[in-house]
Amino acid sequence: MPSHLLIGQTLSFTADPFALPPEEAARHQSRGAVLIENGRIAAIGEADALARAHPGAERVDHGEALISAGFIDAHVHYPQTAIIASWGKRLIDWLNSYTFPEEMRFGDADYAAAVASRYFDLVLAHGTTSVCSFCTIHPESVDAFFSEAQRRGLRVWGGKTCMDRNAPDALRDTAHTAHDQSLALLKRWHGVDRLSYAITPRFSPTSTPEQLEALGALWAAHPDCAMQTHLSEQREEVAWVAELFPQARDYLDTYERFGLVGPGALFGHAIHLTGRERARLRETGSALIHCPTSNTFIGSGLFDTAARKREGQIVGLATDTGGGSSFSMLRTMAAAYEIGQLTGTALHPAQLWWLATQGSARALRADHLIGNLAVGMEADLVVIDLASTPAIAQRAARAENFWEALFPTIMMGDDRAVREVWAGGKRVVAKAAGQ
Ligand code: GUN
Ligand code: ZN
Repeated sequence: MPSHLLIGQTLSFTADPFALPPEEAARHQSRGAVLIENGRIAAIGEADALARAHPGAERVDHGEALISAGFIDAHVHYPQTAIIASWGKRLIDWLNSYTFPEEMRFGDADYAAAVASRYFDLVLAHGTTSVCSFCTIHPESVDAFFSEAQRRGLRVWGGKTCMDRNAPDALRDTAHTAHDQSLALLKRWHGVDRLSYAITPRFSPTSTPEQLEALGALWAAHPDCAMQTHLSEQREEVAWVAELFPQARDYLDTYERFGLVGPGALFGHAIHLTGRERARLRETGSALIHCPTSNTFIGSGLFDTAARKREGQIVGLATDTGGGSSFSMLRTMAAAYEIGQLTGTALHPAQLWWLATQGSARALRADHLIGNLAVGMEADLVVIDLASTPAIAQRAARAENFWEALFPTIMMGDDRAVREVWAGGKRVVAKAAGQ
């Protein structure tokens, strides 16, 4: 494989920008470069020095564009691609009206393959190189997801969504089949190339205690898999869980009593939490996944990122496609900023960017592999034009420092800002200027 030297502004992190003054945790070079060799980052540094040291590398000069780790979307539902932006419902009605009818179609392997392909086209065009996705109840939907990611050389997580109650007949399995089908899929896909399995009970209302117990046992037997689900997204949902599980101390306890908390557990939303839940999430090393465009779109509530980070939680960032209203992690960072304003903290651009890269990677226990520009890490990169529209360009032109130049793209950017995407050391998106 030839080596490539990407030249441009570079942004990487040496620490968590919630733990230090944010700018001290980031490293920005205005004329930097990243050397890609054999699918990994072989060097990062100052452009002229790296170009001199590696004269044989194929050079790609991106001028003032920004080279960053690719975005990592830690909670999505790829089967909801075609129903994104569906009007007028809150969570439970939204699931019944839009989501479940669409998910029923994924027993058809051809339909699942078509949507998986469209989904990865969309997310790559938006600069997202890794996702952690729910599939549907159908093993075909999982095969479609992993086959498509494998073909493109992506590092992804996914799993069969298990439900054995409070869902239409055609979308229900049992405790037994959920366990056995998940196990078969895990054996087929987990650890193959860059693919990882995520054990996936949809959420407590759609699983019996027997199903949660079976999936807890499966995770105990395969602890290096991820475990993804939903937690305390809407108040009506929290009240429903209390009715369905009268013995549980709280919503988290419906998972905890079956071994479904701990490192590698990803809890989507996690907004309306009690003190006990917050303490247990932190003590067990579980991750909270913030889905800001979804939380405003479905009307769920305000996740307090700064408070959760202050109390020591692991926090990732996600679109929650298609409850979320965008495929873009730039738009998602903007929504996280806006929710931060409503909860009393203006999140710094370094913090927003970190959440969309290292934060999500850490939640997935993959921060040693992806989510940063550092020697030895997998070469999943995005090249961002910081003047991609006239509105952004005119604001960025006034910037007095790098963070001021970056922030208009965070707030107003979309797929037009994404110039090039690399996954596993290969260029997977290349756009001509102005596209
Ligand atoms: N809770 C259970 N299922 C879902 C889903 O598909 N989307 C969202 N946003 N919340 C859920
Ligand atoms: Zn979700």
